Amino acid sequence: MLETQPTIGDTAWFQHDRFGMFIHWGIYAAGARYEWLQTNEKIPTDKYARFFDHFDPDLYDPKAWARAAREAGMKYFVITTKHHDGFCLWNSQFTEFKAPNSPAQKDLLTPMIEAFRAEGIRVGFYYSLIDWNHPHFPIDNIHPLRDNPDAVEMNKSRDVSIYAEYMRNQVRELLTQFGDIDILWFDFSYPAGDANYPQFKGKGHEDWESEKLMTMIRELAPTAIVNNRLDLANVAADVTTPEQYQPRGWVKVNGKPVVWEACQTFSGSWGYHRDETTWKSPEQLLRMLIDTVSKGGNLLMNVGPTARGVFDSRALDALKVYEEWMKWNARSIYGCTQSEFQAPTDLRYTFNPKTNRLYVHLFAYPFRHLYLPDLNDKVEYAQFLHDASEIQLELHDWTALQVKEESKDAVLILEVPVIKPNITVPVIELFLK
Ligand code: GLC
Repeated sequence: MLETQPTIGDTAWFQHDRFGMFIHWGIYAAGARYEWLQTNEKIPTDKYARFFDHFDPDLYDPKAWARAAREAGMKYFVITTKHHDGFCLWNSQFTEFKAPNSPAQKDLLTPMIEAFRAEGIRVGFYYSLIDWNHPHFPIDNIHPLRDNPDAVEMNKSRDVSIYAEYMRNQVRELLTQFGDIDILWFDFSYPAGDANYPQFKGKGHEDWESEKLMTMIRELAPTAIVNNRLDLANVAADVTTPEQYQPRGWVKVNGKPVVWEACQTFSGSWGYHRDETTWKSPEQLLRMLIDTVSKGGNLLMNVGPTARGVFDSRALDALKVYEEWMKWNARSIYGCTQSEFQAPTDLRYTFNPKTNRLYVHLFAYPFRHLYLPDLNDKVEYAQFLHDASEIQLELHDWTALQVKEESKDAVLILEVPVIKPNITVPVIELFLK
């Protein structure tokens, strides 16, 4: 097993628990066409206000969200306290652009945290570094006003240091008013800017005053995990966060393996997207979780609740896929990491170093024989994980025996039933010697 770079935040529980729920929820849910719609459609603040004026999540029941997360096997959640549009879910004293002032008429964050904690789920806060509502956030290449002819002129009266202070004030609220927070998830830096908009600078650690922000966080919440999007080269982040792709192997920074977490969506959009049709299949959803853990990472899987405050049926179906699989197979996920053995194509290994068990995930179900290189004589007992039914180590079938005879390498051959068990991705549990 790879040793990761040490972290300041407490990543021990994180690397054990492996599976979390991302939630993107804000007034963009009413637009229902991606959480970036304000800037994609270059909507000025006064026009975007219509979503604020009509945001009335009358069916909001955070207990139902928390239950769904727990049933899916998720052990922590990360909620967008503020996204790029600047709208805040909590009753921040530093802005009027917040849930209590919308038709929602209340702090939406507190009941959510209470509900998730009651289900034993740890709490993470996503906080957007980008803010398209704040009057001192300079217009840049991804801002809704980027093509406004007066943008450069408008920027003259915008002072990013006032905005950086606003962020510190808000993060302080988030770290002091809601009990112990396990994760802080900042999003995101783009210091390079865009050659198509030479009149603007991008934004990075100098704009956010990331060092100062980080110092404050480490003081207020010494064990909280902080992600890697603050554009800090010399201050170590606790977790690296590849987005919307599966890394080829254990994620490395400067050549060294790090704690990492893939963030993924059910359908390609983070915020609720009514007309998005690229929803992933049950096989894909499960493979993403398994593949991630087989490379030593975590999966943060996103749900975008509707503006009425519910997970829609497509999201619930996707969560059910995890629930149904985790019910039988969670043992191959929690406490597991990358194995020292190389899995053949179509298989993924996860390994629990505490119990010394190797989990073989069958992405493609073989016909009768499973060939596992290097594992001969290493296994004491084998069984399907979902029903604890023995897979005999002794070969009975003469064709398998013949292959065994002929093979000079240390291949372990397992005879598996012709019919695939009724499990989307079956798992074989190997008790190593
Ligand atoms: C991106 C997007 C954003 C989403 C995030 C999740 O950077 O800007 O909308 O919240 O990724 O990782």
